[in-house]
Amino acid sequence: MKETIQSSKEQIFEISEQTRREYETLEGELEDTRRKVSEIIQQTNEKRHQAQVARNRLAVINRDFNTFSNEEAKRVYDDANEYRLQLAVMEKEEKQLRERRDQIERRLLQLDDTLNRAELLVGQVSIVHNFLDGDLREVGEMVEDAKEKQAFGLKIIQAQEEERRRLAREIHDGPAQLLANVLLRSEILGRVYTEHGIDAALNELQDVRKSIKGSLSEVRRIIYDLRPMALDDLGLIPTLKKYLDGLADEQEETEIRFILHGNEYRLEVNLEVALFRLVQESVQNALKHANAEQISVKAEMRTTQVHLIIQDDGRGFDPAGSTNPGFGIIGMKERVNELKGDVKIESAKGKGTKITITIPT
Ligand SMILES: Nc1ncnc2c1ncn2[C@@H]1O[C@H](COP(=O)(O)OP(=O)(O)OP(=O)(O)O)[C@@H](O)[C@H]1O
Ligand SMILES: [Mg+2]
Repeated sequence: MKETIQSSKEQIFEISEQTRREYETLEGELEDTRRKVSEIIQQTNEKRHQAQVARNRLAVINRDFNTFSNEEAKRVYDDANEYRLQLAVMEKEEKQLRERRDQIERRLLQLDDTLNRAELLVGQVSIVHNFLDGDLREVGEMVEDAKEKQAFGLKIIQAQEEERRRLAREIHDGPAQLLANVLLRSEILGRVYTEHGIDAALNELQDVRKSIKGSLSEVRRIIYDLRPMALDDLGLIPTLKKYLDGLADEQEETEIRFILHGNEYRLEVNLEVALFRLVQESVQNALKHANAEQISVKAEMRTTQVHLIIQDDGRGFDPAGSTNPGFGIIGMKERVNELKGDVKIESAKGKGTKITITIPT
């Protein structure tokens, strides 16, 4: 586009240059023609005068025919004829030259007009070119920006899909399996009673109850993962405590500690959800990947910011490694970025992991 405009500009410029050259040539020719015209006017005037003289003499001869010899009369006659012819030729030439002069003058006016218009056009095209030059650069930047946004959007969609897949898998493997199991067991409960008696049936019932309890807490955990309802009711700190206590109860291998510095206060609910998710992902990672003995979560609510440190003494990893397959850490970084906060991941193989998050409130 820009190239086309540029080339058009050059073409218009070329046309105007050609016009200017023609103009200059014609201007020279006009001067020449004007000189020739005035010369020929003079010559024709002279010739006309000569012809007139010759005609006058011829008239005298015609009048006093007897006083002139035949030769004399013939010479005068020939002269007069000759002048008349010459005059005719010269008058024709004069007429042609005048016509040529007028033609050149008209052509020069046209060329002048073309030149002015070409100059105007070059100016306008230059403006368009410069405008597009700047504008297209902006468009380019916008396209780049849009591409980034699109890539970012795709990543979010991908993360959402991944989250749904994970959720479906969890419900399928957890509560759905357990409920199917409960159904099966409740069906055989009657048979156990008739075949093995009341004690066996009560034992079986005990197992079924355990299964139901299991699926209930599994369903609760999934709901909790989706949206900890305590967040809205109680706020961040109590919800974190509850969540971490629940995790600690669930498994024995890892000790999970929660430490609060300073006073707690309620934040805007979206910010509380975000902070909860950041801790949740960090702790889940530590449980999933670190094989740690201890996980600690420290929270400090300062006047203008919230400070979180999630630390484990597990196997550690290379936070800069591009082979990290999940969305957890990417999502954490994006979240922190959106909140105009800061996240630092310090980890090394065998040295545990420390995640420091600071979010302005
Ligand atoms: N506390 C940790 N200790 C050891 N390795 C970790 C820890 N946190 C993260 N990692 C490593 O970094 C990788 C990326 O973590 P990330 O949370 O982004 O993905 P994920 O946990 O594998 O998957 P997702 O979070 O999407 O379920 C993990 O697969 C793991 O190898
Ligand atoms: Mg993760």
